[in-house]
Amino acid sequence: MRKGILHSYERFFPLTERTPRLSLCEGDTPLVPLRNMGRELGVELYGKYDGLNPTGSFKDRGMVLAVSKALEEGAKALICASTGNTSASAAAYGAAAGIPCFVLLPAGKVAVGKLAQALIYGARVIAVRGNFDRALEMAREASREKGSLAIVNSVNPYRLFGQRSASWEICDELGDAPDWLVLPVGNAGNISAYCAGFEFYREIGRIEKLPRLMGVQAEGAAPLVKGSPVDEPETVATAIRIGHPVSADKARRAVEITSGQFLSVSDDEILDAQKMLASSDGIFAEPASCAPLAGLVKLRKNGRLPGGLRIVLVLTGNGLKDPDSAVSRVDLPVEIDGTPEALAEVLGL
Ligand code: F0G
Repeated sequence: MRKGILHSYERFFPLTERTPRLSLCEGDTPLVPLRNMGRELGVELYGKYDGLNPTGSFKDRGMVLAVSKALEEGAKALICASTGNTSASAAAYGAAAGIPCFVLLPAGKVAVGKLAQALIYGARVIAVRGNFDRALEMAREASREKGSLAIVNSVNPYRLFGQRSASWEICDELGDAPDWLVLPVGNAGNISAYCAGFEFYREIGRIEKLPRLMGVQAEGAAPLVKGSPVDEPETVATAIRIGHPVSADKARRAVEITSGQFLSVSDDEILDAQKMLASSDGIFAEPASCAPLAGLVKLRKNGRLPGGLRIVLVLTGNGLKDPDSAVSRVDLPVEIDGTPEALAEVLGL
C-alpha cells in the first residue's frame, strides 16, 4: 500500500520523533517503458511519471518534507512563489497540515489547471505584476522578515531533500542507475536533487555509477545553456519560464560531475514532443515535461544520441494542468448530427 515517501524512505530523511509524518501518498510513481518512442530513437526509454503524484507534479516529493519540517519548527503559515506547480503542491500540503498558505504567481502566466488547484485547496493567491524571479525575491523577503512564515520554495533545503526520493525509486526499480537521466530545468532545483540522490545511493553502495544528467531548457528561458541570466524569459512551457535560477551553481556542478550537458529546445520542438509522447506512447505530460523528449529528438537528429542507452525521462507534470497549450496543437472535434448516418459518414463505413 502507498503510504508516502516519509514512510518509504524514512531512514534516509532528516526526521526526528517530533516531525509530523504528513502524507498525501506521494511518490512511488510508475517508471513507464516508452516502447514506441524508444524504438524510434534507438534507445531503451522510460518515463518517470511524476505527473501521477497527488497534485500532479514532482513538487509533492519535496513539499511533504518541507511542510512537515515547517510544522515541527513551529511555522504558522507557508509562503512560496511559483510558476504554478509549487503553488498547487504547497496549497494542498498546507491544507492537509491545517495552516494558511500564501502563493505569489506571475500574473497571467500560470496554466489554468494549476491556478484552479491553488484556489480550490484554499491558498491565498496573489498575482504579481512581474515574472517568477521577481515573485521569488518577494517571497524570500517576506519570510526573512516574518519568522513564522516558512518559505517552501526550493531555497528551503528540505524541498530538495524530499525530491531525492525520485532518484532512489528509479534505481530501486531498475536495480541500477540508468545511463542517462534527462529532465527539464527551470529554477534548477530538481536536477540538483537528482544529483544528490544518485550520489547518496552510490555512497551507500546501491549503484555503481552516476547517470549522465542532461538538463533541458526552453530556448527563450535558457540561462544555463547561455551561461548568463535572462531578464525577460519567455516560453510556452510556463513551468520553466525562469531567467535567474536559484540553484544554478548546484545544477552546473551536477552536470559537471556526471559528464552531462545542458541543452535547449524551441517551443515548437516542445509542443511537437508533447504530441508525440501522447500519441505514440499514451502519456499526456505538460509542455515543460516534454522538453526532455524534445532534447533527445534533437540530439538524435544531430547524430549525437548513441544507440542502445538506457534512458529515463522525468515527466515532471501532468498534461491536464495545461489543457490550453495542448488544444492549440490538435484537430478540433468533428461536430455531427445525432444520427447513425452522420456517424457512418465520419467513420467512412
Ligand atoms: N517541470 C515542471 C512541470 C515544473 O513545474 C518545474 C518547476 C520544472 C520542471 C523545473 O524544475 O525548477 O527544479 O528546475 N516549477 C516551479 C514551480 C518553478 O513554481 O512550480 P526546477
